[in-house]
Amino acid sequence: MIRTRIIGTGSHIPAKVLTNKDLETLVDTTDEWIVTRTGIKERRIADNGETSSCLAHQAALNALDMAGISAAELDMIIVGTVTPDMPTPSVACLLQDKLKALKAAAFDISAGCTGFLYALSVADSLIRAGNHKKVLVVGVDTLTKITDYTDRTTCILFGDGAGAVVLSKDNGANGILSSLLYSDGSCGNLLYMPGGGSANPASPDTIAKRYHYLKMDGNKVFKLAVKALEDCVVKILSHNNLTSDAIDLLIAHQANLRIIQAIAKRLELPPEKVFINIEKYGNTSSASVPIALDEANRQNRIKPDDLILLNAFGAGFTWGSALVRW
Ligand code: UT7
Repeated sequence: MIRTRIIGTGSHIPAKVLTNKDLETLVDTTDEWIVTRTGIKERRIADNGETSSCLAHQAALNALDMAGISAAELDMIIVGTVTPDMPTPSVACLLQDKLKALKAAAFDISAGCTGFLYALSVADSLIRAGNHKKVLVVGVDTLTKITDYTDRTTCILFGDGAGAVVLSKDNGANGILSSLLYSDGSCGNLLYMPGGGSANPASPDTIAKRYHYLKMDGNKVFKLAVKALEDCVVKILSHNNLTSDAIDLLIAHQANLRIIQAIAKRLELPPEKVFINIEKYGNTSSASVPIALDEANRQNRIKPDDLILLNAFGAGFTWGSALVRW
């Protein structure tokens, strides 16, 4: 049986830190409110000129280094992002050039914060279909570039970063066991950026209306996310004839500590089986799951044969999960 193994993980976080105290000077908020409602203490901000492809490049180099393969061996690069360097070319093509991955085809996937899980699932399908052997999957976002620092309901949440995995075709029992992806386009208006696309091309008017920033109904997103993720994790376990006590580590999208805790409670997982790093980075969108996976891996929180549950949700509305036998 062909399986997709994760043979390397990597991540890269910008150096610049924005703390809750810093945000207190920008909008009407407090460190106490942000920590209590979200679990976030600080987040990282990409500098001018520090683009999504720059962050993706460093994360990819770290993942390739762990995998012990060269970029020349990659036959596909897939990047999940909603903040490409520019509308075209894709981050994946810019990354292919930076890595000199000359054999690799490359494309981006836009699925909100679920972008990495969508990319992982597509890569797994390509490998199991037999056409690809070594695939690089990256989740990267620089949401702070489209964040309105006069809007306290969004600007406290987001940070920048990139995470990557190198996938390899394998014949053993371990690897990606399955993935489930969902979308509900009728909820697109809950988290969106109105400007810069074909609906509202950039103009002095769209800029005056602040259309180039994210708009979000956070409370509705929160409620939808909890319900969608609960359904999804229960389904993926039952599709694989597993119960939640088989899970060794939950690596969830780091959007809100309370959402992660709600899913952990639903699965009756003790705290040591739930990986959390939201306090350091905030919500890094597509990057959050692969950054957390890389940190857990490098901290030896993942052992051979462990069962890892990944999940994410985001704009679209999109959500999904994956089960990996390490
Ligand atoms: O990857 C997907 C991306 N999106 C998300 O993950 C968002 C999910 N949603 C959330 O994380 C939460 O809904 C938030 C953290 C955004 C908000 O928490 P909440 O518990 O849902 O608060 P709320 O929106 O119901 O607002 C409660 C109160 C409101 O005041 P009133 O109307 O009760 O007087 C807000 O105006 O908190 C106020 N508020 C703030 N107060 C201090 C909203 N933002 C802030 C703030 N500081 N930054």
